[in-house]
Amino acid sequence: MTEEKHCLFTIFGATGDLAKRKLYPSLFRLYKKGKLDKHFAIMGTARRSWTNEFYREVIVESISGLIDNEEQAKRFATHFYYQSHDANDTNHYVVLKSLGNQLKKKYDTDGNQLFYLAMAPQFFGNIVHHLKSQHILTNEGFEHLVIEKPFGSDLKSATTLNKEITQSFAEENIFRIDHYLGKEMIQNISAVRFGNLVFEALWNNQWIDNIQITFAENIGVENRGEYYETSGALRDMVQNHILQVLSLLAMETPDNFTENEIRKEKIKALQAIHKYTEKEARENFIAGQYTAGYFEGEHFSGYREEKGVADNSLVETFVAGKFLINNKRWQGVPFYIRTGKRLTEKGTRINIVFKNIPKNLFVTQDQKTVQSNILTIYIQPTEGFSLSVNGKEFGPGFNLEPIKLQYRHDSDVLENSPEAYEKLIMDALNGERANFSHWDEVARSWELIDMIRQAWDNHHHKEIPSYMAYTMGPHAAFELLEKQGAHWIWKPDEWYVQRGKLNRY
Ligand code: BG6
Repeated sequence: MTEEKHCLFTIFGATGDLAKRKLYPSLFRLYKKGKLDKHFAIMGTARRSWTNEFYREVIVESISGLIDNEEQAKRFATHFYYQSHDANDTNHYVVLKSLGNQLKKKYDTDGNQLFYLAMAPQFFGNIVHHLKSQHILTNEGFEHLVIEKPFGSDLKSATTLNKEITQSFAEENIFRIDHYLGKEMIQNISAVRFGNLVFEALWNNQWIDNIQITFAENIGVENRGEYYETSGALRDMVQNHILQVLSLLAMETPDNFTENEIRKEKIKALQAIHKYTEKEARENFIAGQYTAGYFEGEHFSGYREEKGVADNSLVETFVAGKFLINNKRWQGVPFYIRTGKRLTEKGTRINIVFKNIPKNLFVTQDQKTVQSNILTIYIQPTEGFSLSVNGKEFGPGFNLEPIKLQYRHDSDVLENSPEAYEKLIMDALNGERANFSHWDEVARSWELIDMIRQAWDNHHHKEIPSYMAYTMGPHAAFELLEKQGAHWIWKPDEWYVQRGKLNRY
């Protein structure tokens, strides 16, 4: 039986894009499943002066693709209330508190509250301060703070922000969102690793040659040019998503599969990442920026032509790099990472490249060495995994050919598979923090990112390596692996180049 949650939600940034695209649809999915039913209310706040009626129209619109009938959508929307709000004005919190008190009674929410910060981070500290000083926090039920990225822009600002929010909320009530941790296949990394002897037994530097983590996007910066100019790909994707995935892949086996044990191991893995000197960081981390290009005959602008972007911007829209981990398990195994905007295809995947067979008895078709076994974990848009193994080619002779054993499906095939945000909201309601970033993880990630950033910034470069839109990054990103005798396993661009849909670069 589904147990209904009792809760008053306060969403700061209720008119924003994230709320419309992710939060409202996810809350509605929980409503359809009966996890939110009669005893919940949502106070949406933002600067704009909207009425409840208009707010509810926005809600209905944002869930239009998910509803069974209009009646159901309207019933759901009656739980939403709008309160225009200036985050810096103390009087506004008085109004918020009074509306909150009415809603707590009306919906019998057991005093449970969830505060969701989905707005510009410069307001986070002030909002959280007021929640306490204006006694909106009452300790009647659970009081959880969900906080969207970016959590600071370097270690210093993240530490300041953390000090501010921990004056009002204890660490166990803070849920720092990294939406990748809500994705089905990211959670599956541990299942693949720890649920299969064949992988678990080989999961170390004796058998693994290198690990490749690719987070590719084919979109540009869209309408987020202004934000992106202050962030770049390193802060936007590597500090959070990529380092989280890396820690899940690299951590030691936890004593048991509980939040605390997993977290302990993830933090240890992050701590063991080698800190480069500036020179080493520059050699091992490559920045890139997209220039205009053609894909399937269509023209795409370069980053510097995007709205909100300076025409001499040196901000990176691409990062490739090599992390090394100083521990017994991983000594000597490069963890290659890459992420970028306007790459050939949207695709998040992990390639675990095993070592070559020590003695090769066979010939391959191209008379070269036998291909290494590769385990690929597909995160999105398809989910699943594949293992490439070698088999005998049919017919005379004894040639080997690689064969793929695979289990792969589109992420939306499984109708009941919850969307990342839905899962994360449910976890936050239940007080389960395993899929959120702990402060210690965030702090260590920033330390690593600051090291790379400083190495780049202190170099005073006047240009940044470029790559044409829809290609897989600058040359240097390929050379990074080639100089170690490796290469990127996933090459989505080749398919298009061979068919004349993409220019060779
Ligand atoms: C966000 C970044 O965290 O993740 C965006 O800020 C990026 O720049 C997005 O586009 C990618 O998420 P997803 O779930 O679409 O792969």
